This record gives sequence, C-alpha cells and structure tokens, in this order.
Amino acid sequence: MAQRDGSHGYPPDYLGADIRAGRCGAVINVVDASAVNELQRIARQESRLGIPLLVGRDVIHGFRTILPIPLGQAATWNPGLVRAGARMAAEEAAAAGVNWTFAPMLDITRDPRWGRIAESLGEDPYLASRLGEAMIRGFQGKELAEPDALAACAKHIAGYGAVEGGRDYAATSIPEIDLRNVYLPPFQAAVRCGVATMMPSFSELNGVPATANRFLLTQVLREEWGFDGVVVSDWDSVCQLCVHGTAGDKAHAALLAVTAGTDMEMTGDAYNEHLGELVALGTLDPCTVDEAVARILRLKFRLGLFDARRSPAKGLPARPSRAAIETARLAAEQSVVLLKNNGPVLPLSIEQLDTVAVIGPLADAPWEQLGTWVFDGDPGETVTPLCAIESLAGGHLKVRHVPAMVHSRGRAGPGFDEAVETARNSDVVLLFLGEEAILSGEAHCRADIGLPGDQLELVRQLHSAGKPVVAVIMAGRPLALTQVLDHVDAVLFAWHPGTMGGQAIAELLFGLRCPSGKLPVTFPRMVGQVPIYYSQKNTGKPPSPAEVVHIDDIDPQAAQTSLGMVSFHLDAGYRPLFPFGFGLSYTQFHYGDIFVRPLEVSPGERITIGAEVTNAGAVAGEEVVQLYVRDVVGSVTRPVRELKGFLRVQLEPGEKRRVEFALDTDALAFHGADLRWAAEPGEFRAWIGGDSDAELGVNFRLSGTPAMAGVTS
Ligand code: BGC
Repeated sequence: MAQRDGSHGYPPDYLGADIRAGRCGAVINVVDASAVNELQRIARQESRLGIPLLVGRDVIHGFRTILPIPLGQAATWNPGLVRAGARMAAEEAAAAGVNWTFAPMLDITRDPRWGRIAESLGEDPYLASRLGEAMIRGFQGKELAEPDALAACAKHIAGYGAVEGGRDYAATSIPEIDLRNVYLPPFQAAVRCGVATMMPSFSELNGVPATANRFLLTQVLREEWGFDGVVVSDWDSVCQLCVHGTAGDKAHAALLAVTAGTDMEMTGDAYNEHLGELVALGTLDPCTVDEAVARILRLKFRLGLFDARRSPAKGLPARPSRAAIETARLAAEQSVVLLKNNGPVLPLSIEQLDTVAVIGPLADAPWEQLGTWVFDGDPGETVTPLCAIESLAGGHLKVRHVPAMVHSRGRAGPGFDEAVETARNSDVVLLFLGEEAILSGEAHCRADIGLPGDQLELVRQLHSAGKPVVAVIMAGRPLALTQVLDHVDAVLFAWHPGTMGGQAIAELLFGLRCPSGKLPVTFPRMVGQVPIYYSQKNTGKPPSPAEVVHIDDIDPQAAQTSLGMVSFHLDAGYRPLFPFGFGLSYTQFHYGDIFVRPLEVSPGERITIGAEVTNAGAVAGEEVVQLYVRDVVGSVTRPVRELKGFLRVQLEPGEKRRVEFALDTDALAFHGADLRWAAEPGEFRAWIGGDSDAELGVNFRLSGTPAMAGVTS
C-alpha cells in the first residue's frame, strides 16, 4: 500500500530492502529501464510473496516526444487525436518500464490564475469528459495487459480547479449541486470508460481534505459509481492531513485516509509506519486493509504484471519514431487558435515578402515551448518557430531574429531598440510572446494574467515601427490580451505546443495549413472578471449592450443615479475578450438550415439536431461544429447554454455538409435541488455554430408535466 519515490541515485540500492521486506508495492519516478528491471526482479524473486511493482510516472503530455499541454490538446476538440497522443506517450513510457501514469487531470477550472489550468482540459464538463475518455483509452490501450499499456489515473477528485483565489492547494467550497453538475461528471465519465486509478486532490473540499474525504472516495466513487480500481493519494498528502489540521499525528492521518478510501500512499510513510499497529490495536478493521490490498492486486493482475509479457523493459530507441513526431506536429497544429486576423495579414505569402523579423523571447526557446510537465522530453529534439521558419522560408526570404528579452519576464533594454530597428527594415514582424514554461503548472499561479515583464511595452514599440505585426503567443493559461490586441494585426494563440510546436506554427503562418483550434476556456478581458465562463446562470438581471455603461462614459451630471442595474463590471462590461469555443480560420464557415427532429421528444427517446455548414471561403479548412442547449425553465436555475456535442469537419472551398447530433433525453438531465439526476419536461433551445455565441437556434420540447420551482410532491 506504499508507493516510494525512486528519483534519487540508483533506486535498487535504496529501495531494494523495502521491496524485499514487502514495504513497497509501487515506485514513482524510476524511468531507467535497467533500474526498473532490477526492481521488478527483486520484487518477483526476492520478496516473500513475489508480487511485481507498479511503476508510476507523470506522463502528462507526452513522455519523450512532447505534445501540447493538455489545455492545448483540449483546443483541438479532437478526441481521436488526443487518444493517439496518449497512445504514443504510453508506448514511449512503457519502453522505459513505466506501467502507470498520473493523467488525465480532469479538474474543471474557470480560473486562469490557477497554474494547473495548463494541465486541465478546460472549463466545460462535457468537453473535458469526452477528451478525458480519449486520453484514458489512449493510455490504457486496447487492453491493460498489453505490454505497452499504462494504467491511467483520473485526478484530482474533486473540485481542485476551484481553489480560492486561483492559488494552488487552497481550500475549495462547492455546493453539492454544483459539484455533481460541473466538477464530478468528467470523473464519472472516466469510471464509465474503465479508468484504472484515481487520485484525490491536495485541497480540502467543504472542510474535509480530499485524501480523507469518505463522501468522495467511498460514497460517490465506489458506492454510487461502482469504481473498483485503485485510489492513490497525492504526493505525501496522507501526512499532510496533519498540516491541514484534521489529523493529530501520522497514525491518525493513516487511519483517516485508509478508512475514507485511499488505497495507496504516494510517498510519505504513514501507511508503512502505522497501518499494522492500528490493526493490532483494534482501531482499524483489517477488512479495510484487505479491501485496499485486493484493489491494488487486482490492478496488478489487470496490467498483466504477473505475465511474462510485461518485462523486461527494453529502453527507449535512439530517436523518437516518425509517427510520434507526426502526432505531436498535428496535435500542435490543431491546438493553435487564431484569435485575430485583420486584413487578413495571415497567411503570409513567401512570394510577396522579402524580409521577415522574428522577434521575442519565445521565438527560439526550445525548453519553454514544451510546457509544464516535462521530465523526460529532450529540448534538443524541439523544433522552435525560428528553426522552422528558417527551414521553411529561409531559402526564399531573409529571416532576421532579435530575441529582444532574455526571458518572458524580462525588462525593456537595448534589445527593444534593436527589435524596433529590425522591424522597420522588414516587411512583417512575427512576434513570439507569452509565458515561459515555469510560469504555469503546479504551484505556479499568477494574480496578474497579462503578458509578463515588459512584453506589452515591446508590443507598443513594435507597433510604432509601422509594419504588420503578427503575435504568436505561447502560454500555459488564457492571458488577458486586451491591450495587446490593439497593437497587433493578427494573433495566433499556441499554448505551450510541445516538441513540434515551431513546425506547426510556421506551417500555419505561411498557409501550408489552416488554423482550426477552438478555445476550451473563456478568455477574460481583465483578471477581475474571473470566474467568467460561457455556461453561467442568467441571473434575475442579465445585462445587454444597451444597459451597460463604461466607467469612462459615466455622465458627470448624472451623479448618484443608478447605472444599468444589471450584472456587469463598470470597467470591463460583461463580455469576455473571446468566448469559449471561439477560433478563426483562413476560410469562413456559414451555418444554416438548423432543424430538430422530433419537435417534441418523450423521455427515453432520441432527438436529432442538425444544421448545414458551408465553407464559404477560398481555402480548405476544418471547423469544429458545436451544439449548445438551454433548458429554458428548470426547477432550479440552469446555465444559459451547455455544450452537448461537437464534431470536427473538413470542408473544401464551397463544400456544404449536413452535421447532425443525436441526443438521448438523458443528455438533458441534471442534478436538481434534491440532487436527483433527471431531465425535466418543458421547453429547450438548441444552437449550432462555431462558438458558444452561436446564434442559429431552434426550440424543442421534452414531453411530460413540467416541474415547478420550489414545489415538491
Ligand atoms: C501532483 C500530482 C502528481 C504527483 C506525482 C503531485 O504534486 O499534484 O498531480 O501526479 O505530484 O508527481
């Protein structure tokens, strides 16, 4: 029931004795194939029971070949590609002897200050559920017992993305109705698709740290959802129960965690030191220990660790496979979101240009573009934008590179003058801005989500050079880009795009490919709007443009009179900078002929909602067609829209496609005031379009007697 850290020195030297003594059933952070093989040999041949080890590693967005950060992968809205990425990562990691990964992270978050938003699949339970399932299927392969399958771990149950103030590890307070409607669905989807393991969050949920939260780990996870896999604590989080102040000492912490449903302790020594003694004292029922051990053993059998097929690990080949590189390139390409394209300045035409200025701290930063969870990637294999632009266009035009800043947090200096001078003498400026990898991820939260350092000043100065400016932004979170937008002609938002990010970006810039990423999270105008997300509630006083006043436009004569009396900020309005689902293309997609069949559906029946999508531009492109639904009148307030379906379609210029979504009436269900899961009869509105502001809508009804708010039978 103990997982030990193997990241110091040669693990067999210091973990061997514990493995022989049965004090270590799993290791984390051993990725050297020969060390793994030796540990497994010790476990099989020299421990009393001969039980092989689980070998865990955080394979979060690639192992050696690095994929875009999970938030970037979510921007592809492409479950097939996300699955292929996880499969590729699993194959690479399994070659090093790893058989367990701590991914996917399924925490819904609506707070870009939280550094772990980078590791999330965005703000929406439906999108995160579909992509989370895809990752799990990719990691676990056709069958867990295959030699290149990894056990996946859905983490961190639950509510971690709602930490106060966007500060990692802080407390979370979530009413159970919201927990069940927003935060739990991706975990339930993970259980349904066979995820092997789960990890509780570091945080407390409504006063009880998740590691010791019986409601989450036993009532919901096992009793309601029937999960029979392993729950592993987060790093040392059992002992941290003492720090939270819910356990008086480590023995108490071990008792709380194991009885709540935490089967294995990740690092820490509370279980090894105290479970035996707690049973001997009669404080802990031995059946609780037996059940946890049985779940761990079942996982080892499911993984085929008792078969010869699993070992020994062969080690990684000298180079990543071509298939891995292509998966990483395609994932990066489809993750990039075109936010602005005035002119249009993009795509660039090599024939019409003579000199290109490549400026900014992230144009040639092989490590930074890889993103937050990179233990095993090699920055030497990274293709940066500068490299890719030079190899793609360098033979035809002059490429002048000026970093201008040492890193993304840098200050204005002589590099700015050189950058402006270079911009003046070039036809177009390609400006690579954003955040270094270390500015997002675990415990890397920010209170200001603007561009760090003096990057905004660099943008202003370059704008004054009078040449078209294309900003390519790499970051681990949505950034508040309001002021940047005023000074640039185009913006490609590339997240941290991984090993092949530079190649993908260069191909998009020069029109070899067409942007198709869509935002998996709302972009605020300014940080004070957070949390801002598309599936908000209407309120009793929803805003509209006519009622919203900007702070600069308040009539001085109108002092002390009311302004608007609707829900908005005087200095930011009520709209985000970019809505969820948004992303431009080099072509335009038109939507029409929306239909719903039947207009009235009975519980248990299927409803089909569709529309015609046309590529009305001159180039081929891919569009992510999105379906949103609103339950117009509910027994409790319902979100103004909820994503219920999406599909990536490829269309040639002029091509039309009828896209249909089939929904069971269960897709209309939610947890009501009594927490029961049910679809309520009444009127619904559906929209189909290219983002969460889609206007093309149609109504339908779910038959039956509508529920009445506050009235119980
Ligand atoms: C993180 C987990 C991760 C674990 C192991 C923790 O700090 O919260 O998500 O899997 O470390 O590295």
